[in-house]
Amino acid sequence: MKKKINIIFSCRSCGYQTSKWLGKCPDCGKWDTLIEKTRSFPSIHSGNRNLPKPNLHAQPVPIDSIDIEDQHRLSTGLAEFDRVLGGGLVSGSLVLLGGDPGIGKSTLMLQALHGIAKSGRKVLYVSGEESIMQIRIRSKRLSSLSSNLLVVSEIDIGAILAMLDSIKPDVLVIDSIQTMFSPDITSAPGSVSQVRESTMQIMLTAKKTDVPVFLIGHVTKDGAIAGPRLLEHMVDTVLYFEGDRNHVFRILRAVKNRFGSTNEIGVFEMNENGLVEVLNPSAVFLAECPEKTPGSIVTASMEGSRPILVEIQALAGNTSFGTPRRTILGIDQNRVALLLAVIEKKLNMHMMGQDIFMNVAGGVKIDEPAIDLGIVSAVVSSFLDRPILERTVVVGEVGLTGEIRAISNIDIRISEAEKMGFSRCLVPQSNLKRIAVNKGMELIGIKTISDAAEVLF
Ligand code: TYD
Ligand code: MG
Repeated sequence: MKKKINIIFSCRSCGYQTSKWLGKCPDCGKWDTLIEKTRSFPSIHSGNRNLPKPNLHAQPVPIDSIDIEDQHRLSTGLAEFDRVLGGGLVSGSLVLLGGDPGIGKSTLMLQALHGIAKSGRKVLYVSGEESIMQIRIRSKRLSSLSSNLLVVSEIDIGAILAMLDSIKPDVLVIDSIQTMFSPDITSAPGSVSQVRESTMQIMLTAKKTDVPVFLIGHVTKDGAIAGPRLLEHMVDTVLYFEGDRNHVFRILRAVKNRFGSTNEIGVFEMNENGLVEVLNPSAVFLAECPEKTPGSIVTASMEGSRPILVEIQALAGNTSFGTPRRTILGIDQNRVALLLAVIEKKLNMHMMGQDIFMNVAGGVKIDEPAIDLGIVSAVVSSFLDRPILERTVVVGEVGLTGEIRAISNIDIRISEAEKMGFSRCLVPQSNLKRIAVNKGMELIGIKTISDAAEVLF
């Protein structure tokens, strides 16, 4: 009986464990992948897997008496990248960089490594996807050749950890974690158990040696980083590199960060010599904004601590089928559906008879209630086929009764709009009283969407 308890069946493909043998793995759906194993209970006291031994005599201490050594942050030489990391790279941290294939992850990493190498540090770039010749050709194009930047093409995680030990680089990059392979596990590279094991081994080494590590991860069709969800829990920081491949803009976004805020974004432009930082995103996103055109409106959105002006476009046309079409890019579908219902009820416009197409110019995604009024104005402008007032920015959250609600950071948004040459701003009435300085901007306070429609059209 006792023996039986110690036997488990584990899936070779995904690592799923069960106490009974099954023909098909209930987790990954593969057939004949369950193999019998003896359950082992790793003991942290036996020094297994190099885990730190627990300090059995730890005593609670007052939080304000803990000494923090000055936390050292390494600059990547790319200000946009550093900001997303929370002010630079923290030693011993594990950063996961995800993104669609071909979006520019390897390019970004090579440029960041070059920035670090230039400051005299030794960095190691391990590629499981490209040969060192290919990397060399790419880095020449990016003009990121440096003798401190070491490259190797390797997929065996054991060999990589040995290299880490002998070379002792200041930063390690693994491109990509899905190509890494640990010979202890029989399944193929890229399978869930391989990815998990490789990440675990790298994490233990990174924490022990204090070397910061970047892991590049592929993204599945539905947009999550391929591999176990566990991967995101194991690392300190998860970054996504996103953008539309048909556009030149790329946005680096933190979705988890133990050492900084997750609201910050970094904006880059991909050109023939690699990625270039975009220091003034508003100017870029508004570069092609048409004036005096129905259906186009500019609003101010906060991305972390930074205001960004974006153009929202809407196209409303009579629907030819029973159910109206709603095609929305860059904004939350449900939010638009809700606002369309408010327009229908409060402005008496027949939205159910209209196909609505919406887009945020430049391929950006925004998710903030402060752009509600922008969405409403764009739709109404297209529906009436009338352009809005010139040089005007609108901001405000719209409630279900059509009221305009106060938003945060109003001063910063207004000054960004002023910097970009706008002269008029529609703001929520309740914000108006609290706006500190009224610079050269005409501010119009509004209470409901009917007020807004009256002012704008
Ligand atoms: P890459 O970094 O290889 O993407 P990932 O590692 O995310 O798969 O980027 C490849 C794309 O970037 C490719 O479509 C070409 C483009 N690119 C440029 O436009 N300019 C450049 O200087 C480089 C290196 C790449
Ligand atoms: Mg790549």
